[in-house]
Order: sequence, then C-alpha cells, then structure tokens
Amino acid sequence: MKDIILPQPELNREFPLMKSLQLRRTKRKWKKELLPLQEISNILWSGCGETLKATIRSKNRRTVPSACNSQLVDVYACLERGVYKYLSSEHKLEFVSDVDVRSILGTQKMMKSAPFGLIYVCDFSKRTGIIKSDESKKMFLAGTETGFISQNVYLYCASSNLSTVLIAMVDRDRLAEVLGLNELKVITYTQIVGEVQ
Ligand SMILES: Cc1cc2nc3c(=O)[nH]c(=O)nc-3n(C[C@H](O)[C@H](O)[C@H](O)COP(=O)(O)O)c2cc1C
Repeated sequence: MKDIILPQPELNREFPLMKSLQLRRTKRKWKKELLPLQEISNILWSGCGETLKATIRSKNRRTVPSACNSQLVDVYACLERGVYKYLSSEHKLEFVSDVDVRSILGTQKMMKSAPFGLIYVCDFSKRTGIIKSDESKKMFLAGTETGFISQNVYLYCASSNLSTVLIAMVDRDRLAEVLGLNELKVITYTQIVGEVQ
C-alpha cells in the first residue's frame, strides 16, 4: 500500500475565529459519504500541521503547543482503505495498515458508522524533556497535547459545517492490537469527523 500525498491545506479559507468558537459542538450524526481528500488535508493541518520549519537549532513547530516541543502525540487517519500516520513536516499520510478500523473507533453504537476517524497516539518512546525528568507526569502531557489537537479539529469542523466527536469510550486494547502498536504507543482518544446529516 502506498503513502498518500495530501493536497495543500487551504490556508486562505476565511471564517471568523469567534464564530468557530461559538459554533463548536459535539455532533454524533453524520452522512455515510467519505470526506473529500481536501477536507481531510484541512482537518489534519488544523489538528497539528506544521507552521514553522525545523532549523539547525530548533525542531519544527505545529498548530498545537507541546511541552518542551516534544510532539508526543501522533495522529493516525482512518480511511476506508486503511490507517495512515500523519506526517506534519511533509503533510502526507504514511501507510500503517490496510485494515479498515472505522467501525471500532468507539464502543457506542452510533460510532460504528464513522466515515472518517482520527486516532491520537502518544508515543512514549520519544523520551524527551519533561518525561525524562518526571515519568509520573506523562499521562497529563499525553492528555493535554491530545486535547489541543482535538480542539483545533473541533474548530475547523465548526468552520466547515462538519460533525465531530472526541471519544474516550474506546476499546484501546483491541484498536492497539489491530494497529500493531507496542506498549510505548498509547491511544489517548479517537475522534470521528463526517458531513453533517
Ligand atoms: C475528554 C473527552 C472525552 C469524550 N468522550 C466522549 C465519548 O466517549 N463519547 C461521546 O459521545 N462523547 C464524548 N465526548 C464529548 C462530550 O460528551 C461533549 O463534549 C459534551 O457533551 C459537551 O458537548 P459539546 O462538546 O457540544 O459542548 C468527550 C469529550 C471530551 C472532552
């Protein structure tokens, strides 16, 4: 299976930030239609796209803050044709698995019909900065960074009239097994996005 080159995100789209904040909502109903690749590109870039390139002195930056810029959370995109890891520097999707996991992103019945999903995976093998000095804080860092990414996705969805829901009720063991994640890669949450019904 091949990696997917995403179209460039539409950075010139206009929608007032204050309006996105006002309209941000959890919506658990969506059409079954797949999202266009342009929409997927915009969602992923909003979530944690690159906003500053790396230099010799410093690592790249993304749309989300990150403790010590450790960028612990990776975003996996779940499409009909399989699961892909989002590489923000190249703005592309790297092939992970050809299994369609969209029906197991959440344990609630309505989550089984997801047209597009995100899996937030905290990669604790990146033993940078704060985790090295205080292991006990790692789940706070994982949850916080995921929360920022998810909120960016929520705001984009509000601006593009898409339904979205962040999901804690996930069978993480099952999903991790299907994806072949080792014990250092921890699923924090999943999120579904679809066209408003
Ligand atoms: C950390 C977190 C976990 C959540 N998990 C779920 C979930 O498993 N299932 C679900 O239907 N909604 C879930 N939600 C969505 C909340 O139910 C929703 O945000 C809340 O009802 C408030 O609605 P609003 O987002 O429209 O303001 C979660 C939200 C957060 C912040």
